[in-house]
Amino acid sequence: MCGIIAYIGPRDVRPVLLDGLSRLEYRGYDSAGLATLDGDRGSLSIVKKAGRIAELARVVHESTLPPAHQGISHTRWATHGEPTDVNAHPHADGSGDLAIVHNGVIENFQTLKKQLEAEGHVFASATDTEVLSHLIGRAYSESTETGSQRLSGAVKQALRGIKGTYGIAVMHRDHHGLIVGARRGSPLVLGIGEGEMFLSSDAAALLPYTNKVVYLKDFDLVELRAGQFDIQSLTSGRSAFEIEELGFAPDAAERGGFPHYMLKEIHEQPQTIENAIRGRLNAEESSALLGGLNLSPAALRDVERVVVLGCGTALHAGMIGAHMLEDMAFVAAESECAGEFRFKNRPLPRNTLFFAVSQSGETADTLGALREARRRGHIGLGICNNVASTIARESDGGTYMHAGPEIGVAATKSFVSQVAIFGLLTLLLGRMRHMSAGTGTGIIQAYAQLPDQITRILEHQAQIESIARKYAQARSMLFLGRQYHYPVALEAALKMKEISYIHAAGFASSELKHGIIALIDPETPTVILCPQDSLYEKNISTIQEVKARRGPVIAMATEGDTGIKDHADDVIYVPRTLDMLQPILSIIPLQLLSYYTAVALGRDVDKPRNLAKSVTVE
Ligand code: M6R
Repeated sequence: MCGIIAYIGPRDVRPVLLDGLSRLEYRGYDSAGLATLDGDRGSLSIVKKAGRIAELARVVHESTLPPAHQGISHTRWATHGEPTDVNAHPHADGSGDLAIVHNGVIENFQTLKKQLEAEGHVFASATDTEVLSHLIGRAYSESTETGSQRLSGAVKQALRGIKGTYGIAVMHRDHHGLIVGARRGSPLVLGIGEGEMFLSSDAAALLPYTNKVVYLKDFDLVELRAGQFDIQSLTSGRSAFEIEELGFAPDAAERGGFPHYMLKEIHEQPQTIENAIRGRLNAEESSALLGGLNLSPAALRDVERVVVLGCGTALHAGMIGAHMLEDMAFVAAESECAGEFRFKNRPLPRNTLFFAVSQSGETADTLGALREARRRGHIGLGICNNVASTIARESDGGTYMHAGPEIGVAATKSFVSQVAIFGLLTLLLGRMRHMSAGTGTGIIQAYAQLPDQITRILEHQAQIESIARKYAQARSMLFLGRQYHYPVALEAALKMKEISYIHAAGFASSELKHGIIALIDPETPTVILCPQDSLYEKNISTIQEVKARRGPVIAMATEGDTGIKDHADDVIYVPRTLDMLQPILSIIPLQLLSYYTAVALGRDVDKPRNLAKSVTVE
């Protein structure tokens, strides 16, 4: 949540910051700002504005902000104080000589603010960040150190009194040629260019400039100069680091001709499946290879129970994963909302294996739940897309999704990737138990067909667009599914409400008669997931029950099921695969349905209101 980009080098910093902010805008987009330091005139200038980056860019272009070669900037998702000009970052200290941008939450800011106010400090904003700027400013004015140590020493001293999380970038008028960054709990990546340095909360924002990065660790402090950097530990001397190469193509975070990232990411899903399974299918043994789990065959064989933790879309993928593990691998499994698990006192067998599922790898609730599971002595593994994320680093092992950057706030390709990975895990654990080689081979063959099957679904997007237009004015929509398709119904409803703002709710179809049926009327469309599986007849009955109350029905059915047209108002077909993998195909037209509904309503698809891509606050 919130995005930071900082630059120091030969370029005019203004376009670099504005370009970086627009790449980070998906992390938070209620206000934005930048500070530049002009060495020739010795001036520190701050420009900030409520609203989108385009609004900030307009103000910057109209301003007299002089060209400069170093600056810090921020796009905000409000936590403390409303999204106003004054609450936007950067924040200055009392002297106006120091500017800071900050991601994270200072938990003890109220206490610190009162102390500072008693000393005479006056605050302009309602933010926790301004308190941090004053703390650094106070430490700076009291410091007896000289050179860059005076600024970085003041940052260290101020951070010692902080409870909470931070990723920060700081500049001071007296330190032309220096930017100081530090992190704890909020990601910060150093980008190394030729004679220039960057600091960003997301490596993808650095792609146009460099592919050489250092992922800073918690309690790292970095001093950036145009041609060099120095990483220290906030707690002791030097901090070890590794320069890594970004594995993404330079245009991986571009829209590539699509009107929205979400549509681009939906269309990437054939490739997403290939990336998730590459090198992980073992045809010879009819099993899967997941070396990153870091568990011996004996340890995997001893697993008594699996608990999957996640939030939002990742939780829905986890529900499907848990169902697969029970259904096909005969391992007791369940998924739990990460934000609930961490505060519960659940008795679980000793050999319970935990999976924290998270695209960003930074979701605070999922990270908290993973930490809690490990604190209780369990093995905690991660299924993440972001390889350098906190969850990836703190887990005992796991599996990367290799899905490439997901920029649209609505999770799409990460969902199919997570479900595909749970399929691999099911294959691996199943083949260690009662799953036959024939069943294992069938799963491997089904995986091979998925990319082409997804492509076939995408070819029908025009039909899905016209269904979306037909129902776009609905005030409420229902999604019903059974077994593997119950979490698909939840996920489809989440997509719909998140980007179209139409109220949407997903239920197990069996629940219809237990209250939900009261909502059925001619103005409320119901999407019924009706694959040709063992529960097909029951799903047809569900359609009948809705139709009997004059509710419009959109059925999602299996290719070739022409008979369903007699029951439903509209039919969306998907190819058939194994039950356990069917959600990967079924969700795709429903992602498109929500996408085209949101477009028809003129919504900001990639940046829906009130949301942010990575939820790093509790
Ligand atoms: O990065 P994560 O996978 O941990 O994110 C979890 C949820 O915040 C996320 O899936 C959210 O529900 C999406 N916006 C849904 O589209």
